[in-house]
Amino acid sequence: MASNKVTINDVGPRDGLQNQPKVLNLEQRLSLILALEAAGVPEIEVGAFVSPKAVPAMAGTADLFAMLPKGSARYSALIPNMKGFELALEANVPLTSLVIAASNTMNEKNIRMTTQQSVNVSRDVLSLAKSKGANVQAYVATAWACPFEGKIAPDEVYRVTERLIEAGASGIVIADTIGAANPAQVQSLMGGLVSRFDSDILSCHFHDTRAMGLANTYAAIEAGIRKFDASIAGLGGCPFAPGASGNVATEDVVMMLEQMGFDTGINIPLLLKASNVAIALTGTATGGKAKSWMEKYYNN
Ligand code: COA
Ligand code: ZN
Repeated sequence: MASNKVTINDVGPRDGLQNQPKVLNLEQRLSLILALEAAGVPEIEVGAFVSPKAVPAMAGTADLFAMLPKGSARYSALIPNMKGFELALEANVPLTSLVIAASNTMNEKNIRMTTQQSVNVSRDVLSLAKSKGANVQAYVATAWACPFEGKIAPDEVYRVTERLIEAGASGIVIADTIGAANPAQVQSLMGGLVSRFDSDILSCHFHDTRAMGLANTYAAIEAGIRKFDASIAGLGGCPFAPGASGNVATEDVVMMLEQMGFDTGINIPLLLKASNVAIALTGTATGGKAKSWMEKYYNN
């Protein structure tokens, strides 16, 4: 029987902040991370080792890692290539996340390589990671749909996932980068992946562009997935994927899961405080859709 425990990885400090018009300084980025950690969020994506020209909001991620307390959360960072991995190694990042789009066009726009080139780079990164004892997982971005190529064939996702697992990725995050999937498609693709690979290695990343983030989370739960990315206050979006809007809000995901009897280990009143921090820092975050109800229900 699938477990009652669900692990949440908050990607707000990376996916959330990378697309904001306002670039936060390191103290501000740290304050968001600490607020999430105080709420008991078990995993936090701290930032990205990418070109600061491409994504100015992620500049200084190495310095940010040096400022982090030895806390209880597992910290990670996104990398697009070998250079990113070398920088992450230098910064002693406990978990790095390679990003590869299932769609060639998206991969070229985002990280200037074809999907096949990225898979090859991933092999090099994962082999270096093995020799260094470093933990590296991989994102399969635009797993359902690409803003340039449209619908992605599930076979593409199975193929890329298989290669990444063979190469030694410790986990695979299946990402709906532009929030275009519906629950039937989620159930079908995640069901297909769970039947081919171990469900423990899989995780999902949903954007709420079409208000289907929670429904898609539920569909993935039904398929046996127990690990999810979400973003505090619904921040999020990829600067290189037209139409991508915020991730499904962590508050909403945690509320739904806890109401269904799942255990996320997260303190909801403190999570609402973290959501207020995200709103105050960015001035644009909206907060989860159920926030006003949650504030009454959980703060009493
Ligand atoms: N981190 C920091 N700098 C990097 C880097 C990395 N991971 N990879 C390359 N660079 C630097 C190079 O050293 C070089 O610096 P220089 O101009 O001072 O010599 C410069 O970036 C260009 O290098 P090049 O290999 O030609 O890269 P590019 O211009 O083809 O850009 C990426 C490729 C991957 C670096 C860039 O597209 C990128 O950072 N994309 C990130 C996209 C992203 O974060 N998307 C959202 C998350 S999914
Ligand atoms: Zn995303």
